Amino acid sequence: TEIMKKLTTLLALALTMSVSAKDEITITVHADKPGSVIDKNIYGQFSEHLGTCIYGGLWVGEDSDIPNTQGYRNDVLEALKELEVPVMRWPGGCFADEYHWMDGIGPKENRPRMVNNNWGGIVEDNSFGTHEFLNLCEILGCEPYISLNVGSGSVQEAAQWIEYMNAADGPMAKLRKQNGREKPWKVKYIGIGNEAWGCGGNMLPEYYSDIFRRYQTYCRDYSGTRIFKIASGASDYDYEWTEVLMKKVGSMMNAVSLHYYTVSGWVGSKAPAVGFSEEEYYWCLGKCLGIEPVIQKHLAIMSEYDPQNRIPLFVDEWGTWWEPEPGTQLFQQNTMRDAFVASLSLDVFHKYADRIKMCNIAQVANVLQAMILTKEDKMVLTPTYYIFKMYKPHMDANLIPIDMDGVDVKLVRNERYEANPSEGANRPLPLLSATASKDKEGKLHVSMSNVKIDEEETVVLDLKGMKAKSIKATILTSENKDDHNTFENPDNVQLVEFKDFKIDKKTGAVTVNMPALSVVTLEIL
Ligand code: AHR
Repeated sequence: TEIMKKLTTLLALALTMSVSAKDEITITVHADKPGSVIDKNIYGQFSEHLGTCIYGGLWVGEDSDIPNTQGYRNDVLEALKELEVPVMRWPGGCFADEYHWMDGIGPKENRPRMVNNNWGGIVEDNSFGTHEFLNLCEILGCEPYISLNVGSGSVQEAAQWIEYMNAADGPMAKLRKQNGREKPWKVKYIGIGNEAWGCGGNMLPEYYSDIFRRYQTYCRDYSGTRIFKIASGASDYDYEWTEVLMKKVGSMMNAVSLHYYTVSGWVGSKAPAVGFSEEEYYWCLGKCLGIEPVIQKHLAIMSEYDPQNRIPLFVDEWGTWWEPEPGTQLFQQNTMRDAFVASLSLDVFHKYADRIKMCNIAQVANVLQAMILTKEDKMVLTPTYYIFKMYKPHMDANLIPIDMDGVDVKLVRNERYEANPSEGANRPLPLLSATASKDKEGKLHVSMSNVKIDEEETVVLDLKGMKAKSIKATILTSENKDDHNTFENPDNVQLVEFKDFKIDKKTGAVTVNMPALSVVTLEIL
């Protein structure tokens, strides 16, 4: 027995040594140095007349057999209420620049039909129009963000739309009242066109700047609602667009936008949403993080012309873009990989919370990196939905600076290298990402993503200015990188309670064991 005892002691010692010899990540959380407020609008959504985003996704009409409230799907309403969506962009996207809002008001049977030229040439019956969108925003308690038709519309049409939505009196207010809405909706966020460099008119930046000057003149303030004028900004790496706009119309805009998609050209055309290689998985996360230097460069240009940083950047389209499912318009599945694109992107947006004041993921339902997928009367919540749910506490909380030590970095291919050798052949992809914030009640929230496919990570949170006393946590994790939810198996990937952490009673530090492929949010008091 003596020998047995000694052996057991030796074994225990060996085990402890192997645990302590294992690499740990340390995150220093500067809870005593709260920074900028993370604008809740960073958690904005985007809904376009595209595929089944609106029809079938948000809206089925009052006569549908699918349970609905005034035509909006009940299941989707409930899911979106749970997310506390702060702002929703509509009607596009490319659709916006062919949309004539007057076709979408008044009795439905009188509304003219149109061809949705951008998205499959399907016939749009205009049954979902201004009233339907703005009433939806009221039900959800979110701010509407309207994109005007600048590409193929007129200044008069744009001006009258704002009058219709916001004026208390006058001809457009009278028309609105005739259509059943007494009070103005008081829409604040107005986008002057969308992708004016592309589907929004193929304009040059100088030309768009002039157009912007003209349109913004007639974006009038009614009923005490100050219009917040958003300039249609650059795509990805088009720094010249931002430069020209800032130079020419910086003084007339309230924000400028940026579009950046994690779009995969890995296999020539777009890559599949499900069933991808390990190499492609990591490449995609590197491409997703490629947004950070892009943001930095646009912000630096903006600061040159606006040294006081009065003008914020709105990333009003972002997310993954995979090969659409056959026979659909941009309908794609959503896996753990998409969940990481969401968490990693949100971590980046938080870092620039002093300059980035709105982001709109593309899109809310059934299109690209959707929160929700629907098929007839069925609905599934995607892994991306759960990221938005677990990140909710960061909305309007103060950013807490963090330093990370011991994070493994993988070098992934930079597909832009050949065209831009100065960018380097590889992008560094840190395999753990994190963000922290403190809410108004003083609760600290730390979110962490371990993107490693098959290795868990031990993370020590060294809290400055506080000692952890109690913790509540949730986790999103799954065995495989392309696990996802289907209409047949809707709860395959879901948010659950997480308990694999320990508080050091003496120091108040927290040790967390992050499984492979996991995202955790800790609420620390
Ligand atoms: O979100 C899909 C499309 O992507 C939008 O309509 C357009 O603005 C962008 O190119």
